[in-house]
Amino acid sequence: MTSAESTAASQDAPFVLAPFNPTANDAIRHGLELAKVQGQDTVWEIGCGDARWLIAACKETGACGFGVEYDPDLAVRATAAVQEAGLDGKVTILCEDACQVDFSAATVLLLYLVPKGLAHLQPKLDALRSSAHTVRVVANFFSVPGWAPLQQHIDKRCRLHYYEVGGEAAAAPAAAPVAAS
Ligand SMILES: C[S@@+](CC[C@H](N)C(=O)[O-])C[C@H]1O[C@@H](n2cnc3c(N)ncnc32)[C@H](O)[C@@H]1O
Repeated sequence: MTSAESTAASQDAPFVLAPFNPTANDAIRHGLELAKVQGQDTVWEIGCGDARWLIAACKETGACGFGVEYDPDLAVRATAAVQEAGLDGKVTILCEDACQVDFSAATVLLLYLVPKGLAHLQPKLDALRSSAHTVRVVANFFSVPGWAPLQQHIDKRCRLHYYEVGGEAAAAPAAAPVAAS
């Protein structure tokens, strides 16, 4: 590969929003309590990994879901887990770069990304603030930069941040920015 080809390849490579590190069961449970997922929700998990969090959300409630995962091996694993959970047709795994995907139809968004990844995705996340519908966002461990959480669940095992953006919140005065943690 010439240096020009290698530069082009690296420019095309998806931005790594976070390495794979699955959300712990406790955090899955508390995250779903914060988001209060219901049957009419459309749940998106950005960088879904093995999709355990997304599957738990949709299996418990009947919500439909979309998981975006750029790693083909993890996307295959997630798809198999969806089938095993009997959620074929209800939950779709997209093997794509999340930065190129339109997730503006989400009513619930699940995130477990590192600060660099959240910052990279920030324009798409900030666009949700002017959405006509409310989007309930749960961020595991790392908070969304500049967003003020409505609730947090922080204990020895979990660190979860809950936000509501768009809908009525879009018409309300912007919350004071908070430092990322
Ligand atoms: C910290 S893991 C979280 C996995 C899962 N969401 C969970 O909470 O258990 C982050 C995931 O994002 C995926 N990822 C990183 N960059 C991505 C990108 N640009 N597009 C789609 N997925 C990406 C990784 O492969 C990894 O599975």
